[in-house]
Amino acid sequence: MCGIIGIIGKGEVAPLLIEGLRRLEYRGYDSAGVATLVDGRIECRRAEGKLTNLEALLAREPVAGTIGIGHTRWATHGVPNEKNAHPHATDRVAVVHNGIIENFQALRAEVEERGHTLVSDTDTEVVAHLITLYLEDGKGTAEATCAALNRLEGAFALGIIFAGKPDLMIAARRGSPLAIGYGDGEMYLGSDALALAPLTREIMYLEDGDWAVITSDDATVFDAEHLGVTREVRLTAHSGATLGKGGYRHFMLKEIFEQPQVIGDTLHAYTNPKTRSVALPDLGFDAAETPAMTLVACGTSYYACMVAKCWLERLARIPVDVDVASEFRYRGAYMAEGGVALFVSQSGETADTLAALRYARDHGQHIVSVVNVPESTIARESDAVLQTYAGPEIGVASTKAFTTQLTVLACFAIATARARGAMDHDTETRLVDALAGIPARAAEVLNHDDTLRALAHQVAEARDVLYLGRGTSYPIALEGALKLKEISYIHAEGYAAGEMKHGPIALIDEDVPVIVIAPSDELFEKTASNMQEVVARGGRVIFFSDAKGVERLGALATTTVTLPEVDPFAAPILYAIPVQMLAYHTAVLKGTDVDQPRNLAKSVTVE
Ligand code: G6P
Repeated sequence: MCGIIGIIGKGEVAPLLIEGLRRLEYRGYDSAGVATLVDGRIECRRAEGKLTNLEALLAREPVAGTIGIGHTRWATHGVPNEKNAHPHATDRVAVVHNGIIENFQALRAEVEERGHTLVSDTDTEVVAHLITLYLEDGKGTAEATCAALNRLEGAFALGIIFAGKPDLMIAARRGSPLAIGYGDGEMYLGSDALALAPLTREIMYLEDGDWAVITSDDATVFDAEHLGVTREVRLTAHSGATLGKGGYRHFMLKEIFEQPQVIGDTLHAYTNPKTRSVALPDLGFDAAETPAMTLVACGTSYYACMVAKCWLERLARIPVDVDVASEFRYRGAYMAEGGVALFVSQSGETADTLAALRYARDHGQHIVSVVNVPESTIARESDAVLQTYAGPEIGVASTKAFTTQLTVLACFAIATARARGAMDHDTETRLVDALAGIPARAAEVLNHDDTLRALAHQVAEARDVLYLGRGTSYPIALEGALKLKEISYIHAEGYAAGEMKHGPIALIDEDVPVIVIAPSDELFEKTASNMQEVVARGGRVIFFSDAKGVERLGALATTTVTLPEVDPFAAPILYAIPVQMLAYHTAVLKGTDVDQPRNLAKSVTVE
């Protein structure tokens, strides 16, 4: 995480750096800072907390300069305060960094031995000192940077400027993403093209191990072996338009309400309404010959994978392994030859997911990714990409990205089943019809906003909340609990309803709301029994079901939310929405920062 930006401009860069940082704040908001060159000297302005604090500082103490770098931080090493805020600088070099320098302690000891004094607790500051040390040894700027890069272990995207060099910025990438933007006599650097979109649409993505010497009219790129390389300059699809809330109080609410539209857009891309069938692009593998699939992701995207596992195993009769990327990448997973590995990521930049992808590629898997950002590193390193058409998601808690991921994965499951001869035409049309109905049903769910706002009062008072579900409702229970934790800071747990009796049932009393997610499906009666077990112990049930389910069991619940009846196949997409809305309204009642909850970041580019 952390966002970095750099500009060699014609006019003063500080306002542009701030605009870029605003578009990068989703990557972290523990502190922010900029460094520019004023009369050849490095000038820094840094502030703890959100970007608005830095803006206020710059209003009091403006900074000139036509070259500069900026940073928005998600703290890894060192508490979030001004001292640890980037840029980190010596009198000769200023650095912004996204990633983790794993050997920083050894390097720190080395530069301290050479008489340098470090003032922060970060892993980054040592980079500025190491380059300075090589400059002191008489090396040139590129040579000194190169020597320092050779010493770094870990992951990094770096933006570096040098005192007395108003037309030079050096960028380097290992692990963390970095893009270079081309302007008219100006050049830019950013963690992503979104940050640079108001400045330019001409983008060159650095590849892993690359570093670049950037001047006001060009960038010279070198690979990890320091050989000159050419990287393609492409036009980004990102728009430079301001990302507004469109009249909504929060981005998260806006994004929740966009779901009927974006699920529809995603279905439009992957289904044919005339033939009522799924129409995916060629993914470059024969599902009939595929021995197994592996689905890997993090956070909310992982829950999408859990739902997809149920769909794929049931419909396509294929063995599916599913794991969180941070575990998968290190567990020495066995991967069947000829298998397909599918990676799901809103950002397409999550460090663990990317590392898991590379592991799978090295183990002979065919790589498919489901991403919301088609220019992302995960997309670029995949054999085939299925894009989600959610549009930019700004709220840190994922909403519309999740339901569009589910939509894509539902289509993928149907296509896989058909290719394996495991699904007949009638079943396919029934399932595609069920998906086609989701946008309209989702709009009906949004009409329950008042009910869910009222319900939030019950949840907001709780210290712990339990979410229960079975089958594809189990990942939705997990997602409901995650959403609540993330934005309201209330402890919540999602549990497989049938597993509750092996532990969490001990938590049940009248103070713990138990949210039961139970569409009318073949597991309904099983979930009903588990709900009875909760009620028998004085538990307070909040029951999410359809009219049939509510008629059957609603009397047992303290509160019921009646959702539209849908084919069980499509139910998880629909039931994701009310759990998002409940978490949202609870967070609003608690007065938390809904769009930028504490300690979190939207794009997690450190492991
Ligand atoms: C962070 C975000 C989550 C997201 C997860 C995975 O934790 O806050 O909303 O689900 O990363 O991100 P990805 O971009 O890979 O889907």
